[in-house]
Amino acid sequence: MPDVLVYEVGPRDGLQNEPDTVSTESKLELVTRLATVGLRRIEIASFVSPQWIPQLADGEALLGLVPDLPDVTYSALVPNEKGYERFRSAGGAHVAVVFMSASETHNRKNLNCSVAEQLEHLRPVMERAENDGVPVRAVISTVCGCPYEGDVDLGAVVSLSRNLFQQGAHEVSLGDTIGVGRPEQVRELVRAVAGEVPLEKIALHLHDTYGRALVNVQAGYEAGVRTFDASLGGLGGCPYAPGAAGNVATEDVVDLFEGAGISTGVDLDRLVDTTGWLESDVLERRLPGRVYRAVRGRRHRSGG
Ligand code: COA
Ligand code: ZN
Repeated sequence: MPDVLVYEVGPRDGLQNEPDTVSTESKLELVTRLATVGLRRIEIASFVSPQWIPQLADGEALLGLVPDLPDVTYSALVPNEKGYERFRSAGGAHVAVVFMSASETHNRKNLNCSVAEQLEHLRPVMERAENDGVPVRAVISTVCGCPYEGDVDLGAVVSLSRNLFQQGAHEVSLGDTIGVGRPEQVRELVRAVAGEVPLEKIALHLHDTYGRALVNVQAGYEAGVRTFDASLGGLGGCPYAPGAAGNVATEDVVDLFEGAGISTGVDLDRLVDTTGWLESDVLERRLPGRVYRAVRGRRHRSGG
């Protein structure tokens, strides 16, 4: 096992923000390439309302096509019981990802209900997943700040983490959806949540809006976190958090750790090839990932 696990969210968190529809065929190629560069955990679909996120309306079709590879687990978002039914009947995904926000207003904009109501929506999902033997990952958004309310109460994040963990989540991912967190805040957050959820079951989901995602990854690592959500090329954003930038770039996370002798299991060169393909053949727009751009520039200068 690598020392650190990179949880790739590009095909979901990344693509959901793209204005032009990406074909199921391109998504399949993307997922297949990611799975073969050494990324073992990939979030590939979202069983939310297709009216809310049209880009990901083809989740069933995609799950029917992705290759079954040893050591690779696929996950898909499930907002409610209807989503869970779609997840189950599609087959092909191993992990159900439930999600909600730590702040009321973002939760309402994103899920059209209050935090307490969303916990009620998730209760039957968690019960059914447990009966079906399906592992559940819980993501809590806006843990470092809310685009509508500003500061978010640390106590609210801790109590949601406890609640979802006690209901059976095998992992809790703490999401800085709008990228406002600072290293000290991330350390404090991890320390506080670790009082309720074992450290090895805590992940961090950091966005790069203020350019702090990578220092926050480092802070999370120092606080004991070993799983980091990331998106190839720094793709992404949140459709219900205006102005939020993409996730921390997978290449940046891999380069940070590998450069420090901490293994990720990811082949950086082949990942850069994949991001290059996505950029030029699929999205036709420049992706921001720093290490990605640097490696491309170096190859270009050396004529490669
Ligand atoms: N998949 C597909 N359709 C769904 C669904 C799901 N998971 N959940 C509800 N629906 C359908 C209902 O069947 C209903 O359809 P109908 O009008 O044909 O009867 C319609 O959506 C409204 O259902 P309701 O339960 O009232 O949902 P809502 O309008 O309150 O929306 C969510 C709730 C969760 C479905 C919606 O807010 C959503 O999809 N949010 C996700 C946003 C997101 O993905 N953000 C980015 C990720 S962080
Ligand atoms: Zn995100």
